[in-house]
Amino acid sequence: MAYFEWADDLVIDQGLIDQDHRHLIELVNTLHTATSQGCGQEVVGRLLQALTAYTQEHFQREEQVMASVHFPHLAGHQQLHRQFMADLAALQSRYEMGSIATAAQLSSLLRDWLSLHIRRSDRKLREYLLPRSRQDRVVGGVVGDCTAYLDN
Ligand SMILES: [Fe+2]
Repeated sequence: MAYFEWADDLVIDQGLIDQDHRHLIELVNTLHTATSQGCGQEVVGRLLQALTAYTQEHFQREEQVMASVHFPHLAGHQQLHRQFMADLAALQSRYEMGSIATAAQLSSLLRDWLSLHIRRSDRKLREYLLPRSRQDRVVGGVVGDCTAYLDN
């Protein structure tokens, strides 16, 4: 069983956001394995950098989706994302300063934050997304095309 397991109540859009969240969960699992195996600063530092970079990209993608559906909690949500990036940077520098306790705590802090954030905050987005069947029809270009056949 993985350290941070995907669960059905983490599903947000059955699409890009879920893919990003799954990837972030994988990165947290990799980080956990590395820290629990006692990997050194070079390896853990690189993993933290990868996690920071991917988190930043993911937040941008998620905020774009939120803006596109006029999610009313966007401003507050962006603030949560900014705060997390600041916390992540602080955590990284504490780790680089050589705190052993921090290395052990890294993956659990990240797991707890991500899991709560997805379940409490990202979840609010669900009701603003189109139902999956409707999304497929729009993406497939079916909606609107059929009327062209009515006059023939
Ligand atoms: Fe989010």
